[in-house]
Amino acid sequence: MTTTQLPFGEDHFGFATDQVHAGEQIGDGHGARITPIYLTAGFVFDSFDHAKARFEGDDGAWTYSRNSNPTNSVVEERLAALEHGVDCILVGSGQAAITVAMLGILKAGDHFLATQSLYEGTKTLFRENFSRFGIEVEFVENPHDLDEWRSRIRSNTRAVFAETIPNPKNDLIDFDLIAGFAAEHGLPFVIDSTAATPYLFRPLDHGASIVVHSASKFLSGHGASLAGVIVDGGTFDWGRYPQKFPQFSAPIHDGSEDSYVSRFGARAFSAYSRSIIAARLGPVLSPFNAFLLLQGLETLSLRVERHSRNALAIATWLEQQPEVESVDYPGLPSNPSHELAVRYFPKGQGSVFGFTFRGGVASARAFIDAVELFSRMTHIGDVRSMVLHPATTSHSQLSDADKQRLGIGQGLVRLSVGIEEVDDLVADLERGFSAVRAQAATGPVLEQLRHEQLTVDRTELLESLAVQPGHQP
Ligand SMILES: Cc1ncc(COP(=O)(O)O)c(C=O)c1O
Repeated sequence: MTTTQLPFGEDHFGFATDQVHAGEQIGDGHGARITPIYLTAGFVFDSFDHAKARFEGDDGAWTYSRNSNPTNSVVEERLAALEHGVDCILVGSGQAAITVAMLGILKAGDHFLATQSLYEGTKTLFRENFSRFGIEVEFVENPHDLDEWRSRIRSNTRAVFAETIPNPKNDLIDFDLIAGFAAEHGLPFVIDSTAATPYLFRPLDHGASIVVHSASKFLSGHGASLAGVIVDGGTFDWGRYPQKFPQFSAPIHDGSEDSYVSRFGARAFSAYSRSIIAARLGPVLSPFNAFLLLQGLETLSLRVERHSRNALAIATWLEQQPEVESVDYPGLPSNPSHELAVRYFPKGQGSVFGFTFRGGVASARAFIDAVELFSRMTHIGDVRSMVLHPATTSHSQLSDADKQRLGIGQGLVRLSVGIEEVDDLVADLERGFSAVRAQAATGPVLEQLRHEQLTVDRTELLESLAVQPGHQP
């Protein structure tokens, strides 16, 4: 096979070159230029000895697609190069990526720390599902307070988890502060970088140990498929802490004396997580969806640049509207996270953010029902623009007190700004705001009329049934 593979994990080319070429393998026997979809469950062995060699992992090839697959491998190498990691594992969704990464590190009896401002699905996974495995999460109230991080450390604390651009509030973390804290305590720092993508920020260059993504979002970019990504930075010294992370230093159970650390070195975490967690629990990615992800990756920088530019223009426009109380976009100088945005995100600040209507849920409803270009959807990072009301959808299970604490008010609307013409998007927002103004002008009157109508109807109904008002049928 002719190979034009770029040096693995080394930044010899610019981002835009790596996103098109890193990891590619040319030479399928037919001259296909782009990576084919190897839609096969398993792979044929030429002979008895060939089968044995493949199971021993000696010839670098494939056995069964639950472990790895040639299409998926190209995507894994490309993502490892883009994130500056040493290895990557593709799985079926972002949730699967978080689960596999954390279960690669943690076991029953362990405790880990996480920031409060996270995607709600991740929080419930940690709080409700992980607790059933005997793994305890503790959320840090103020991620900027190093003393609070330190005060929450226990003898069984084993990891730190955060998001680069937290969904949906965009209340940025001070990355270096948390990475420094994790390093100081010998803890792997796992970061969900879904909303940033390696184009805007490379967490491994700033001291993270492992990066996870929901590749269903910007990395795939077209909203066609789900996917998840785990990138191993190769820098965390698992072998230094055999008591804390015994799985990497203990014998592999294949008849040899090897451990994951001694056999795989910097790739100990990914080798273990691929074969012992991902392949056994089984949330693998179909080669078909891996192909869609690869198609998306090839235009990542172009899309994310445009997403961010559109988002900044829209956030700036929204901030000028009198009906808007606040806009949670760190690219705005008025935003509390702006200084962190300037420091960590000079190329753009992403395109998923919330804004809050002064008129509460009535304004949010009028706006969401009126827009036509923005799709009413629970999804982010798609080329199409999307809108959602978190308090009644993604965060509806939370108590009112928790919603208030997390800033998920009734007037909060979340946008995921796409790559359409920004003028068309603003025109659509104007349509939404016209509806908000009309609702504000007529809403109370309509509400009164509706109330009176109901009163009349009920009285008439009771009279016709000869029932005294106040009677409970
Ligand atoms: C930051 C973040 N992480 C993880 C996920 C879960 O990803 P998936 O839907 O691919 O499982 C999401 C989904 O919205 C997300 O926003």
